[in-house]
Amino acid sequence: MADYLNQQEAVQIREPASLGSLLYISRSTIAPEEAEAVVAGIVATSVTRNAAVGLTGALLFTGTHFAQALEGDKAAIEDLMHRVTCDIRHDEIVIVEQGPLEQRRFDTWSMAYFGPSQFVSRHVTRLLNDPSPAERRRAADWLGELLCEFTARRPFPTLIEQPSIP
Ligand SMILES: Cc1cc2nc3c(=O)[nH]c(=O)nc-3n(C[C@H](O)[C@H](O)[C@H](O)COP(=O)(O)O)c2cc1C
Repeated sequence: MADYLNQQEAVQIREPASLGSLLYISRSTIAPEEAEAVVAGIVATSVTRNAAVGLTGALLFTGTHFAQALEGDKAAIEDLMHRVTCDIRHDEIVIVEQGPLEQRRFDTWSMAYFGPSQFVSRHVTRLLNDPSPAERRRAADWLGELLCEFTARRPFPTLIEQPSIP
């Protein structure tokens, strides 16, 4: 883990003509005892590859689920999502928000990693299971805000062992 904690990738952003964003959640298929190393690998790959194509965003791992916000050129997001949806380290991928973007919310790639957090897991599970559009909307907004809040305070990939939220 230590390797990527101090990793800093300068993201040179020349804004693409069609700037978009996407937020998805998914269920981890990673064995708990392997999660730390596997997620560190995902982050290391993501930092390098996303910077190379001008993608920014945030990745949250709750121990059972992922939530990832991506922003950048719509075609670059689409390319990445083709790879990500084929990745067997997670399944049950649900896109909860997608659309055009005026201004980036994450201007560097950031990674917030939670150890198993029942609080965050509960919200993510609700987002997956709740059939009511209003409730899903609220949960999606909450998740987006959470990612923003963490990345604003920690502009580079950061390991957060325990959430400080109630
Ligand atoms: C939850 C999750 C999030 C991921 N996010 C990214 C990402 O943001 N950027 C990226 O390049 N790969 C990401 N990956 C890894 C990709 O699925 C893929 O393994 C990687 O891009 C290498 O693809 P390739 O082997 O086809 O070259 C993620 C994987 C998972 C499970």
